[in-house]
Amino acid sequence: MTRRDREVQRARTRQTGNVEPALWPGTRPSEPVPEPGIREQLERASVPARALLPLRLFFGVTFLYAGFDKLLDPAFFDASGPASIVGQLAAFARVSPLAPLVHLIQPFAIPMGLLIAIAEIAIGLGALTGLAYRLAAAGGAVLSLVFWLTASWTTHPYYYGADLPYAFGWVTLALAGHAGLLVPTAIRDLGNRVVDQGPWGPRGVPSSARLRDRPGLVEEPSASRRFVLQAAVLGAAALAVASLAAPVRFLRPSGTGNRTASAGGGTVTPTDSPAGTPSASGTPQPGGTAPATAGTGPAATPSVAQGVTVSTIANVDKQGAALIRIPADAPSPYPAGDPGIIVKLPDGTYVAYDATCTHRGCTVGWDAQDSVILCPCHGAAFDPANHAAVLGGPTNTPLLELPIVVDHQAGTISLRA
Ligand code: FES
Repeated sequence: MTRRDREVQRARTRQTGNVEPALWPGTRPSEPVPEPGIREQLERASVPARALLPLRLFFGVTFLYAGFDKLLDPAFFDASGPASIVGQLAAFARVSPLAPLVHLIQPFAIPMGLLIAIAEIAIGLGALTGLAYRLAAAGGAVLSLVFWLTASWTTHPYYYGADLPYAFGWVTLALAGHAGLLVPTAIRDLGNRVVDQGPWGPRGVPSSARLRDRPGLVEEPSASRRFVLQAAVLGAAALAVASLAAPVRFLRPSGTGNRTASAGGGTVTPTDSPAGTPSASGTPQPGGTAPATAGTGPAATPSVAQGVTVSTIANVDKQGAALIRIPADAPSPYPAGDPGIIVKLPDGTYVAYDATCTHRGCTVGWDAQDSVILCPCHGAAFDPANHAAVLGGPTNTPLLELPIVVDHQAGTISLRA
């Protein structure tokens, strides 16, 4: 190995961000680099590189899945639904410290949802393949931080939310680099320049030049070329993977994939029973907790200006409570697009609340046995007879009360105009 080769090897090591000095020392840059097997790579890798591998694989798979899952989820792009990106942004605008920013992007909610899904796919692919690795990991950190400030912001205490640990995990991966571990040689060398070390000094030659063909040609790492090329290839790969969602969505049986969730939280789909206990399930999606799908009840008319009817007395009386949906265009202070719950109290009066749990945003349900509004995710209980005051669970904030008008003659319950 010549001195020049050693310098190139050192430069390459610096630019791949290896935790260890080099995986395959002694390899001449002008020779084809043999691709070691996975086992060999693991044996040669440093302890820190091996230790970070589970985190890298988990994050990569999770973000890839989360992005693809969004593209497969019809509810996520259904602007009229509360579980859509439109409904989620409306919910974030009420609680997030980034509310001014959320207001700015609300008119572009659907393209923004698409962008987030593709970004998650790119980040996942970058983590798994090593393409633009640090850029992908930094992107994962930023996205997770944004999710924490929006979707997970109402989570108290903060350690119940997963988006913040995701953000710090991505920062760790971005600082460490991939160490060359499980990164194909073609990707590691992407962006290298071929240089002619001729008698007139080093000069670049077309990258198509074959190193074996001419003596004096060597391959040199180039940080800027590597960054641009790897980022471009990663973007193209993310678009290619994202485009697969169209045929998959077309071939999937209807009725599947109608949930959107987040790496840190879960999505709740209330049962069709007006007073049923919702079922909860967590789906990995970097992006916090999504507002839940609303329940049943008479379809709300488009405006609340005239006091929109959201349920019938008979519907509520049947089981003592009924889930409703607040119209997506409801003006403030109504939580537009949120699910709501109407409860009949023992004294025969009716009360209504926003059914989005103040802990992590799951949809609450009615527990007829204990006559409380109950959250199925972490067990928060609210007293319907006392302005939804918290009876127990990981939140201190009561549910938002909704003003309603009960028309006994017409048998209807409406949101007050
Ligand atoms: S979301 Fe945690 S208790 Fe409701």
